[in-house]
Amino acid sequence: MTILGLETSCDETSAAVVRGGAILSNIVSSQIALHVPYGGVVPEVASRQHLRIVDQVIAQSLATAGIRAADLDAIAVTRGPGLPSALLVGVAAARGLALRLGLPLMPVHHMEAHLYSTEPCEPPFVALIVSGGHTILAHVPAFGEHRRLGQTLDDAAGEAFDKVAQLLGLPYPGGPEIERQAAKGNPKAFDFPRPMLDSGDWNFSFSGLKTAVRRASSPLLRGTALSEVEGGQPSSIERRASCVVADLSASFQAAVIEVLVQKTCRAARTLRARQIAVSGGVACNRALQRAFEVQCARDAIRLAWAPRALCTDNAGMIAQLAERLFAHGIQPPKDWDIAPDWPLAGG
Ligand code: KG4
Ligand code: ZN
Repeated sequence: MTILGLETSCDETSAAVVRGGAILSNIVSSQIALHVPYGGVVPEVASRQHLRIVDQVIAQSLATAGIRAADLDAIAVTRGPGLPSALLVGVAAARGLALRLGLPLMPVHHMEAHLYSTEPCEPPFVALIVSGGHTILAHVPAFGEHRRLGQTLDDAAGEAFDKVAQLLGLPYPGGPEIERQAAKGNPKAFDFPRPMLDSGDWNFSFSGLKTAVRRASSPLLRGTALSEVEGGQPSSIERRASCVVADLSASFQAAVIEVLVQKTCRAARTLRARQIAVSGGVACNRALQRAFEVQCARDAIRLAWAPRALCTDNAGMIAQLAERLFAHGIQPPKDWDIAPDWPLAGG
């Protein structure tokens, strides 16, 4: 099948063409620059930008794949979860296109698409999805069966990266910035808590860790904006502040990584799962990947990681999952609406 996928659930406008499991094009127009002044995604700004460029992104994905709209067999679109006004733009565009071309339209669950975006992605496995909006640990015994084991009780892992970056004066999105700073810092400089590491369940919590970073950082960084550190000749105070930011980043990142790796691997051992699949925006983090590699080798568990281009939000993963759903004989529902709070199936 040749499928055009659309993704507009948050701040990326994306269209992709997939054929026979292969991604022929995966165009992602990120709105990050638009949201930077606000320190986070503003829903109305996001949906207006989706509306402005969705046509161009679709045209570009067809052109890059070298196909015409008439070559398509189906359209797929993110139905949820996500920002309602942002989802509406993608769904309206997809429905109009499907109607005009007389094609089936498959609504896709955004988190399921992340979950199956790893390579390889054949169940059974334990899945960790770590993004800006979600942190979910799930057991996937077979395709389409998702048993949610646990999730974050407060901030998502990516959200914690973003918020800690903000309080350290680093730009949005914070994940890549914290990773960059962490590479220069000492992960043992601050003894931050490992929240819920031994909670006896499979849930996570990152907001206390963020508070611990705030407590440790405010007396050390008071009066020193990082912008001063970056420009001109830094004074000795500024140089020390920049070391503190690197150490705080490294220590924070180490705490998040230890909790994610240890709980996920423990879940796999408990369930006797032989494979772990990690996906979502935070899976871009190379230190996280290395820590998983070490622990999985120790436990003789196979590690499936999402390719970098599929970690953050993209339509390639949406079209790929739609193709698998069609291959499993699943037909699109007749009457459906956007699902901003759609839980993971079987959760
Ligand atoms: O999956 P995604 O694009 O959006 C959601 O569906 O939420 O994930 C975006 C999140 C942001 O919070 C961003 O800070 C985080 O992924 N992220 C990272 C890294 N790159 C992106 N977190 C840690 N380390 C990174 N290198
Ligand atoms: Zn996502």
